[in-house]
Amino acid sequence: MRKRKPYTYQFAETMRQLDGDGLLLAATKPNGESNVMTIGWGIIGVVWGRPVFTVLVRPSRHTHGFVEASGEFTVNVPTPEMSEFVLFCGTQSGRDHDKFAEFDMAVTPGHDVTAVTVDACPLVYECRVVQKNDVAPAAFDPAIVSRYYGRGDFHRVYYGEILGAWAW
Ligand SMILES: Cc1cc2nc3c(=O)[nH]c(=O)nc-3n(C[C@H](O)[C@H](O)[C@H](O)COP(=O)(O)O)c2cc1C
Repeated sequence: MRKRKPYTYQFAETMRQLDGDGLLLAATKPNGESNVMTIGWGIIGVVWGRPVFTVLVRPSRHTHGFVEASGEFTVNVPTPEMSEFVLFCGTQSGRDHDKFAEFDMAVTPGHDVTAVTVDACPLVYECRVVQKNDVAPAAFDPAIVSRYYGRGDFHRVYYGEILGAWAW
Protein backbone atom coordinates (compact mmCIF):
# COMPACT_ATOMS: atom_id res chain seq x y z
CA MET A 1 0.00 0.00 0.00
CA ARG A 2 1.51 3.31 -1.06
CA LYS A 3 1.38 6.37 1.14
CA ARG A 4 1.10 10.00 0.09
CA LYS A 5 4.47 11.76 -0.05
CA PRO A 6 5.68 15.29 -0.80
CA TYR A 7 6.21 15.74 -4.55
CA THR A 8 9.95 16.21 -3.85
CA TYR A 9 10.24 12.71 -2.31
CA GLN A 10 13.29 10.91 -3.74
CA PHE A 11 13.62 13.66 -6.32
CA ALA A 12 17.26 12.91 -7.15
CA GLU A 13 16.50 9.23 -7.73
CA THR A 14 13.58 10.07 -10.02
CA MET A 15 15.83 12.36 -12.08
CA ARG A 16 18.57 9.73 -12.20
CA GLN A 17 16.16 7.19 -13.66
CA LEU A 18 14.60 9.72 -16.04
CA ASP A 19 18.09 10.33 -17.39
CA GLY A 20 18.83 6.61 -17.37
CA ASP A 21 16.57 3.80 -18.56
CA GLY A 22 13.53 6.05 -18.27
CA LEU A 23 10.25 6.31 -16.38
CA LEU A 24 6.82 4.94 -17.33
CA LEU A 25 4.11 7.34 -18.48
CA ALA A 26 0.67 5.74 -18.22
CA ALA A 27 -2.73 7.08 -19.20
CA THR A 28 -6.30 5.80 -19.27
CA LYS A 29 -9.06 6.77 -21.69
CA PRO A 30 -12.59 7.51 -20.46
CA ASN A 31 -13.58 4.08 -21.86
CA GLY A 32 -11.16 2.43 -19.41
CA GLU A 33 -8.49 1.48 -21.93
CA SER A 34 -4.93 2.14 -20.71
CA ASN A 35 -1.51 2.44 -22.31
CA VAL A 36 2.04 3.01 -21.15
CA MET A 37 5.24 4.33 -22.75
CA THR A 38 8.75 5.07 -21.56
CA ILE A 39 9.84 8.68 -21.15
CA GLY A 40 13.34 10.07 -20.86
CA TRP A 41 12.49 13.75 -20.82
CA GLY A 42 10.53 15.62 -18.17
CA ILE A 43 10.66 18.41 -15.63
CA ILE A 44 9.44 18.48 -12.04
CA GLY A 45 9.01 22.02 -10.76
CA VAL A 46 6.64 24.70 -9.59
CA VAL A 47 4.40 26.69 -11.95
CA TRP A 48 1.25 28.68 -11.26
CA GLY A 49 1.82 28.03 -7.58
CA ARG A 50 1.46 24.27 -8.10
CA PRO A 51 3.84 21.33 -8.26
CA VAL A 52 4.01 20.26 -11.90
CA PHE A 53 5.46 17.29 -13.79
CA THR A 54 6.00 18.44 -17.36
CA VAL A 55 6.33 15.71 -19.99
CA LEU A 56 6.95 15.81 -23.75
CA VAL A 57 4.98 13.42 -25.95
CA ARG A 58 5.29 13.22 -29.72
CA PRO A 59 1.88 13.17 -31.51
CA SER A 60 2.90 9.90 -33.21
CA ARG A 61 2.85 8.06 -29.87
CA HIS A 62 -0.21 5.95 -29.18
CA THR A 63 -0.07 7.38 -25.64
CA HIS A 64 -0.68 10.87 -27.05
CA GLY A 65 -4.33 10.08 -27.74
CA PHE A 66 -4.80 8.74 -24.21
CA VAL A 67 -3.50 11.90 -22.56
CA GLU A 68 -5.53 14.03 -24.97
CA ALA A 69 -8.71 12.08 -24.24
CA SER A 70 -8.38 12.01 -20.46
CA GLY A 71 -6.36 15.08 -19.48
CA GLU A 72 -4.48 12.94 -16.98
CA PHE A 73 -1.38 10.82 -16.73
CA THR A 74 0.77 9.07 -14.18
CA VAL A 75 4.54 8.89 -14.09
CA ASN A 76 5.74 5.63 -12.58
CA VAL A 77 9.27 5.07 -11.28
CA PRO A 78 10.25 1.46 -12.03
CA THR A 79 12.52 -0.93 -10.15
CA PRO A 80 15.72 -2.33 -11.71
CA GLU A 81 13.89 -5.67 -12.13
CA MET A 82 11.48 -3.97 -14.52
CA SER A 83 14.18 -2.98 -17.04
CA GLU A 84 12.95 -5.38 -19.73
CA PHE A 85 9.43 -3.96 -19.45
CA VAL A 86 10.76 -0.38 -19.55
CA LEU A 87 12.71 -1.12 -22.72
CA PHE A 88 9.68 -2.80 -24.29
CA CYS A 89 7.46 0.17 -23.43
CA GLY A 90 10.01 2.48 -25.05
CA THR A 91 10.35 0.54 -28.28
CA GLN A 92 6.94 -1.02 -28.91
CA SER A 93 3.63 0.72 -29.44
CA GLY A 94 0.34 0.12 -27.72
CA ARG A 95 -1.12 0.06 -31.23
CA ASP A 96 0.46 -3.38 -31.65
CA HIS A 97 0.71 -4.67 -28.09
CA ASP A 98 -1.21 -4.73 -24.83
CA LYS A 99 1.97 -3.97 -22.91
CA PHE A 100 0.52 -4.50 -19.45
CA ALA A 101 -1.04 -7.85 -20.36
CA GLU A 102 1.99 -9.19 -22.22
CA PHE A 103 4.21 -8.56 -19.17
CA ASP A 104 1.55 -9.51 -16.64
CA MET A 105 1.86 -6.05 -15.08
CA ALA A 106 -0.96 -5.31 -12.65
CA VAL A 107 -2.28 -1.75 -12.62
CA THR A 108 -4.53 0.19 -10.27
CA PRO A 109 -6.32 3.51 -10.79
CA GLY A 110 -4.60 6.38 -9.00
CA HIS A 111 -5.86 7.91 -5.76
CA ASP A 112 -6.12 11.38 -7.25
CA VAL A 113 -6.68 10.53 -10.93
CA THR A 114 -8.42 7.74 -12.79
CA ALA A 115 -5.33 7.05 -14.89
CA VAL A 116 -3.73 3.78 -13.88
CA THR A 117 -0.56 3.38 -11.86
CA VAL A 118 1.78 0.42 -12.29
CA ASP A 119 1.59 -1.72 -9.14
CA ALA A 120 5.23 -2.86 -9.32
CA CYS A 121 6.53 0.73 -9.21
CA PRO A 122 7.50 1.95 -5.73
CA LEU A 123 6.85 5.63 -6.51
CA VAL A 124 4.23 7.20 -8.74
CA TYR A 125 3.18 10.75 -9.60
CA GLU A 126 -0.50 11.34 -10.33
CA CYS A 127 -0.98 14.30 -12.64
CA ARG A 128 -3.81 16.32 -14.17
CA VAL A 129 -3.05 18.36 -17.27
CA VAL A 130 -3.41 22.06 -16.49
CA GLN A 131 -1.68 23.37 -19.64
CA LYS A 132 -0.50 21.90 -22.91
CA ASN A 133 1.26 23.42 -25.87
CA ASP A 134 3.29 22.38 -28.88
CA VAL A 135 6.95 23.27 -29.02
CA ALA A 136 7.52 26.17 -31.42
CA PRO A 137 9.90 24.95 -34.18
CA ALA A 138 11.07 28.47 -35.08
CA ALA A 139 12.03 29.21 -31.48
CA PHE A 140 14.52 26.32 -31.13
CA ASP A 141 18.26 26.28 -31.09
CA PRO A 142 18.69 24.88 -34.66
CA ALA A 143 21.03 22.20 -33.31
CA ILE A 144 18.11 20.70 -31.36
CA VAL A 145 15.87 20.63 -34.43
CA SER A 146 18.45 18.83 -36.54
CA ARG A 147 19.30 16.42 -33.72
CA TYR A 148 15.76 15.50 -32.61
CA TYR A 149 13.24 16.62 -35.24
CA GLY A 150 14.60 15.46 -38.58
CA ARG A 151 11.20 13.98 -39.35
CA GLY A 152 9.08 16.67 -37.70
CA ASP A 153 6.80 15.05 -35.14
CA PHE A 154 7.33 17.96 -32.77
CA HIS A 155 6.51 17.23 -29.15
CA ARG A 156 3.39 18.30 -27.37
CA VAL A 157 4.28 19.51 -23.91
CA TYR A 158 1.90 18.54 -21.10
CA TYR A 159 2.06 20.34 -17.78
CA GLY A 160 0.61 17.90 -15.26
CA GLU A 161 -0.20 19.27 -11.85
CA ILE A 162 1.07 16.68 -9.39
CA LEU A 163 -2.10 15.99 -7.43
CA GLY A 164 -0.29 13.32 -5.48
CA ALA A 165 3.04 11.53 -5.20
CA TRP A 166 2.58 8.07 -3.70
CA ALA A 167 5.23 5.62 -2.54
CA TRP A 168 5.65 2.43 -0.55
C1 LIG B 1 14.65 5.70 -22.79
C2 LIG B 1 13.52 6.19 -23.65
C3 LIG B 1 12.98 7.45 -23.43
C4 LIG B 1 11.93 7.93 -24.23
N1 LIG B 1 11.40 9.17 -23.98
C5 LIG B 1 10.35 9.63 -24.71
C6 LIG B 1 9.78 10.91 -24.41
O1 LIG B 1 10.16 11.60 -23.45
N2 LIG B 1 8.77 11.34 -25.21
C7 LIG B 1 8.30 10.60 -26.28
O2 LIG B 1 7.39 11.05 -27.00
N3 LIG B 1 8.82 9.37 -26.56
C8 LIG B 1 9.83 8.87 -25.79
N4 LIG B 1 10.35 7.62 -26.04
C9 LIG B 1 9.78 6.80 -27.12
C10 LIG B 1 8.49 6.06 -26.72
O3 LIG B 1 8.60 5.49 -25.44
C11 LIG B 1 8.21 4.95 -27.76
O4 LIG B 1 8.05 5.53 -29.03
C12 LIG B 1 7.04 4.08 -27.40
O5 LIG B 1 7.09 2.92 -28.19
C13 LIG B 1 5.70 4.77 -27.59
O6 LIG B 1 4.68 3.87 -27.23
P1 LIG B 1 3.15 4.11 -27.62
O7 LIG B 1 3.08 4.20 -29.14
O8 LIG B 1 2.44 2.91 -27.07
O9 LIG B 1 2.73 5.39 -26.97
C14 LIG B 1 11.40 7.12 -25.27
C15 LIG B 1 11.95 5.85 -25.49
C16 LIG B 1 12.98 5.38 -24.69
C17 LIG B 1 13.54 4.00 -24.95
